Parts: sequence; structure tokens; C-alpha cells
Amino acid sequence: MKSIIVSMVAAAGLMVAGSALAVDMPDLAKKNSCVACHAIDKKLVGPAWQAVADKYKGDASAKDKLSAKILKGGSGNWGTMPMPANPKIGDADRAALVDFILGLAK
Ligand code: HEC
Repeated sequence: MKSIIVSMVAAAGLMVAGSALAVDMPDLAKKNSCVACHAIDKKLVGPAWQAVADKYKGDASAKDKLSAKILKGGSGNWGTMPMPANPKIGDADRAALVDFILGLAK
């Protein structure tokens, strides 16, 4: 009986640790359908956001560039596939998305 309790506690601990480590897409990204083309750590239609963060690491103008890209869309930085424009996402939400993406840099 004691060992069952111990292993249950251990399993619960593992589950907590697992969810703390895995970064999930934020609600803003789900709500605005970014998840249709982007994932944190793998390329879908668009680049992995982890890769975006690494590419712009140390770039002081990255926030402005990425915010403009989300607003206006465009292609050429990752390939010929264009990113769609998102005129309906407000400034604050765009800034939050950019902060999240750049925060993924290792
Ligand atoms: C229809 C697919 C699609 C959707 C939806 C989409 N993206 Fe993209 N995204 C792309 C593609 C393709 C690229 C690569 C563009 C390029 O090569 O410059 C990209 C590039 C990016 C980049 C890197 C820009 C750069 O110039 O390096 C960011 C940041 C980004 N997307 C954020 C978002 C956010 C935030 C959303 C949701 C509001 C979103 N994307 C929705 C396809 C998409």
C-alpha cells in the first residue's frame, strides 16, 4: 500500500514537471489562428517560432520588424510562402505575440 502511494506521488510530480517544461502556444495564437501555420518547435507552413526567436536574437529592431510582419504579412525571410496580413489584431495583442515569440530564444 505504501509503495502505491509513493509511486502515485512520483507520477503526479512528473506530470507537473512535464507541463512546466513544455511551452504551449498562447491563447492569442490559438484565437488568431497562428497555430494553423506555426508551432513552437517545428516548421509547419511557416517557420517554427523557436527558429524565429533564434534568428532575431540580439536584433534590437526585431520587435518592430516582427510586429509589422504580423500586421502586413509578406514573404522572403524564410522562403517564398507568404505570411498572411492580420489587420484585425490590435497593437497590444501583436506586441504580446511578438514578446512571446522572441522570448523563446535559447
Ligand atoms: C497561412 C499560414 C500562416 C498563418 C495563419 C500565420 N503565419 Fe506567420 N508565417 C507564415 C509564413 C509562410 C512565414 C514565412 C514568411 C517569410 O518567409 O518571410 C511566416 C513568418 C512569421 C514570422 C517571422 C517573420 C519574419 O519576417 O521573419 C512571425 C513572427 C510570424 N509568422 C508570426 C505569426 C503570427 C503571430 C501569426 C498569427 C497572428 C501567424 N504568424 C500566422 C505563415 C503563416
